[in-house]
Amino acid sequence: MNNISTSNNWDTSLYEDKHAFVWQYGEDLLKLLNPQPGESILDLGCGTGQLTEKIAQAGADVWGIDSAPAMIEKARENYPDIRFDVANAANFQVDKPFDAVFSNAVLHWVKEADSAIASIHQSLKPGGRFVAEFGGKGNVLAIVTALYSALESIGIPQAQVENPWYYPSIGEYASLLENQGFDIIYAILFPRPTPLAEGETGIANWIKMFASPFLAGLSPEQQIQIIPVVEEYLKPTLYQQGTWTADYRRIRIVAVKV
Ligand code: BEZ
Repeated sequence: MNNISTSNNWDTSLYEDKHAFVWQYGEDLLKLLNPQPGESILDLGCGTGQLTEKIAQAGADVWGIDSAPAMIEKARENYPDIRFDVANAANFQVDKPFDAVFSNAVLHWVKEADSAIASIHQSLKPGGRFVAEFGGKGNVLAIVTALYSALESIGIPQAQVENPWYYPSIGEYASLLENQGFDIIYAILFPRPTPLAEGETGIANWIKMFASPFLAGLSPEQQIQIIPVVEEYLKPTLYQQGTWTADYRRIRIVAVKV
């Protein structure tokens, strides 16, 4: 299969060319962050840097980190004046605490949520804010169900498949934050059906970009066979008038370090 991204080995061209909605939707989250000139802000999981650059444009002093070396390489190429480094959300450390930590569309990849929250907590000043959006309970449920069914149809049971995502409820994530010394000042879980680019090939591209761990145990031939099966399952619900729409459900949360 061409262009498939494995775990932390992202195809940044596929990401930037066909999945720009990731940071385009993130612009709403920037309003919630409301970055101010002179503030120090950490962009956790910055990808190729588009939102990091918007934070810099607001006059804040921003540092972008991402666990994927390919993303950081591309972010540095895109915005050479901004500091970007490879670091893992579950165990990063900072020298000097920040006014805010911002994170868009990343924390659903971090199953060690407690460790990530501990890192975020130690990286904030007292009173500092954590502003995040990520997939919440029920996110892409139709797609996950179709992937499991398609895999089962070729003899691979669900128990053998790695689901790489963590989609907590608000109650669950808010409790984790409160247990580590945050006050929750805003939290919402909302459906955000997300139209995918590239017409007919939209869901295939999305699976190649984001869902490769589901296909990791398959031969290259099986990987090619499985996608049309997933498409067939999903067509009645997620494909209309030439456009695929992913069944996203987002958590948006603002928490302050006590
Ligand atoms: C999301 O943004 O919700 C998402 C992105 C990629 C894979 C799974 C979920």
